[in-house]
Amino acid sequence: MERFEKFVIGNYRRYPVALVRGEGSTVWDSDGREYLDLFPGWGCNLLGHCPAKVVQAVQEQVAKLIHVPNTWYMEQQGVWAELLSQRTEFAAQAFFCNSGTEANEAAIKLARLHTPPDRYKIITFTGGFHGRTLGSLTATAQPKYHEGLGPLMAGFAYCPMGDLAAVRQAIDETTAAIMIEPIQGEGGVRMPPERFLAGLRELADQHELLLIFDEVQTGCGRTGTWFAHQYFDVQPDIMTLAKSLCAGIAGGALLARPEVAASLKPGTHAATFGGNPIAAAAGIAMIETIEEEGLLAAATELGEHLTTALQQMASDFDFIREVRSAGVMIGIELDIDGSPIVEDCLRRGLLINCTQGTVLRLLPAMNLSKQAADQGLEILQQAFEAAGQQAVDS
Ligand SMILES: Cc1ncc(COP(=O)(O)O)c(C=O)c1O
Repeated sequence: MERFEKFVIGNYRRYPVALVRGEGSTVWDSDGREYLDLFPGWGCNLLGHCPAKVVQAVQEQVAKLIHVPNTWYMEQQGVWAELLSQRTEFAAQAFFCNSGTEANEAAIKLARLHTPPDRYKIITFTGGFHGRTLGSLTATAQPKYHEGLGPLMAGFAYCPMGDLAAVRQAIDETTAAIMIEPIQGEGGVRMPPERFLAGLRELADQHELLLIFDEVQTGCGRTGTWFAHQYFDVQPDIMTLAKSLCAGIAGGALLARPEVAASLKPGTHAATFGGNPIAAAAGIAMIETIEEEGLLAAATELGEHLTTALQQMASDFDFIREVRSAGVMIGIELDIDGSPIVEDCLRRGLLINCTQGTVLRLLPAMNLSKQAADQGLEILQQAFEAAGQQAVDS
């Protein structure tokens, strides 16, 4: 920790814990203390820590070929792109990068490249989160993330989440695309209102706009379907992925309809490390593991189990306002500050997250056992009891 103080830039708030090892949904710190992790890898470790098949694939790949530039064909990247595109409802082709924000930058560029030059505007939604580089950050309609960074990129319009009339009004002759997280993650696990995504699809079709789904958090099995566009049965033209795409190895991707993908011509965009053999090996192993172990169905079942129990807690504790979930993406909205509960859970050996101040967020691994889920629920129950007691005392 002293070394961090001295040599690592302090742009993150860190818990005073150093994690040294992980296996499944268990992690250990440098003092040997064990934790149950219901937020593994900030949503990246959808198969838990160090899943065996991914570890083996990466170990074998790293000994064969670590990196080759995208000026060469590479078998793994082709196989990975095929496996991904076959699991979507709309996409035929993939572009690979290294992170979520990078995938969204590619989507912004592709939207501008694919539409006529006088069409550049992208409509995004309040409470959304698309990343930290300047294009994705401008797409992120949350003023707190913009402070001190202006002037931001031109050509974005923000609409209230869920307000189709506002979107209709924001569309003009300069609009190129509508970009949305099918479920807002960082924004507090917020679901789109009924038929909202379908309404966006209709508007996009009417006005010849591209519909971009940022599935960085919802993608790759999180919702119990391969992608949230299948969960909601609405097809985008472009989808961005990262986080769990490579089960914890850095990787990002953009998938697009073939006619849209064609606008990303040689020289228009690139990423040096994008789709590298290690990321590709991990990404392939991730997909194979999910299918071999039946984890999409498992995620649905696990999510329902956790949600039912949390809804019971919501009726027991009056400071729990609402429980929202899709598969293993779960938000517990509180009337009180959530950070002290996260800290209390940490002391009790449970890792969870709080977003937007009052929403506890769980992004458990889809292969979390029922026994471990119940253990996590028991700790949450204890933390809620302590929070309730504290409210009475103060
Ligand atoms: C929906 C969504 N989009 C984009 C990003 C940015 O991803 P990255 O941190 O990999 O750039 C995130 C990160 O939390 C996200 O949740």
